[in-house]
Amino acid sequence: MPVPSLDTIVNLSKRRGFVFPASEIYGGLRSSWDYGPLGAELLRNLREAWWTAMVRERDDIVGIDSAIVQARQVWITSGHEASFSDPLVECTSCHHRFRLDKLDDPGQCPDCGGRNTFTEPRPFNLMLKTFLGPVDDDAALAYLRPETAQGIFINYENVRRSARMRLPFGIAQIGKSFRNEITPGQFVFRTREFEQMEMEFFCRPEEAERWHGYWLDARLQWYLGLGMNPDHVRLRAHEPSELAHYAAATSDVEYLFPWGWDELEGIANRTDFDLRAHSAASGEDLRYYDQDADERFFPYVIEPAAGVTRSAFAFLLDAYDEDEIGGEKRVVLRLHPRLAPIKVAVLPLSKKDDLVAITEEVAATLRKHWMIEVDVTQSIGRRYRRQDEVGTPLCVTVDFDTLQDRAVTIRDRDTTQQVRVPIADLVGRLSASLGEEA
Ligand code: GAP
Repeated sequence: MPVPSLDTIVNLSKRRGFVFPASEIYGGLRSSWDYGPLGAELLRNLREAWWTAMVRERDDIVGIDSAIVQARQVWITSGHEASFSDPLVECTSCHHRFRLDKLDDPGQCPDCGGRNTFTEPRPFNLMLKTFLGPVDDDAALAYLRPETAQGIFINYENVRRSARMRLPFGIAQIGKSFRNEITPGQFVFRTREFEQMEMEFFCRPEEAERWHGYWLDARLQWYLGLGMNPDHVRLRAHEPSELAHYAAATSDVEYLFPWGWDELEGIANRTDFDLRAHSAASGEDLRYYDQDADERFFPYVIEPAAGVTRSAFAFLLDAYDEDEIGGEKRVVLRLHPRLAPIKVAVLPLSKKDDLVAITEEVAATLRKHWMIEVDVTQSIGRRYRRQDEVGTPLCVTVDFDTLQDRAVTIRDRDTTQQVRVPIADLVGRLSASLGEEA
């Protein structure tokens, strides 16, 4: 199956309630998107899968949740106020502005076609400004964080001490970040408000390269483990000219988006840049004391930095498929069961009173375990298609025989095969089919 077009996914997302254009009733806001009932579930499932892999299943990583707005000094020290910028050019003919490094032809304006009409590039700082308190002056200036990472660095010593962590160890965080992108677009790929999942892994400097390799592999495997097509995802090392101001080496996990390979996650060796800088600027000694060796040093940091919203988009693209069932075209999202917004749909064959009570009984049992949906309208075929289109892995059909044999039919999204199962065994059977551990 080739990668679906951007329009296909944008339309499906809106029609079925994954993603809506933000402020739509006022004409929309190009760089902002709202997540509907299914999108909100998908995001929750993604966060949960990441947090489980990065925090709960490990004894060397803990999680935090830091504030979006921090002291301005954090961003001065981290180098973001001076250096977190993209090269901006303006077309002197149509006055549209562009990011120079994202232009296909830096000599031609993509909007009006003018040749050599661009101004000299100037650095445009990406941090979104705000003012704290009632006065909009320089003393009240603050920034909405452009990355969650700094919240981790400034809490490094708090976490190390309170959680009694010893090297090597990591601190993970999921949360919103903001960037005043010059050219947001391509749906939720690049937005001004987005969500990140970042982990800072602190280690001895001489072990940094090895841990970098370890995390490159672990992160790639995470996407594959959630069902991403191995032909659509790859690792790519940055050229020296692409490196961020803090990084000694970075590789991206890239996904084959409809416009080509593009970044899904960055995995950087940030060296001791941040801890050293915050130590010098704050006067707090952030060096690690190794008791065994009786030495103090700044740990190096390996940082896998992923996007929640961007990954949700990639997983939607990757899951999209079309096939034919009984001579009819079907759209099916082959989402991994862990990501699927609805795990099980309960479908009574008829709306008649006799089936209502037993359907409610089945639904109430399943609701304790999973996000489910009860759908009673239209033909059973139409209802299966509706669930296929949003990636529901399993449907449970309640029919008139159910009243006698207390059994229901489980129908599998991918194979469309059906099996009859006693209600008493249903939770166990569904759980096994969803690939959950006992
Ligand atoms: N702390 C390092 C850092 O923030 P990054 O490569 O700039 O690194 C990490 O961002 C990830 O955050 C990206 O790989 C992407 O998934 C996501 N991301 C960054 N900017 C984004 C934007 N404007 N819109 C949506 N996601 C974004």
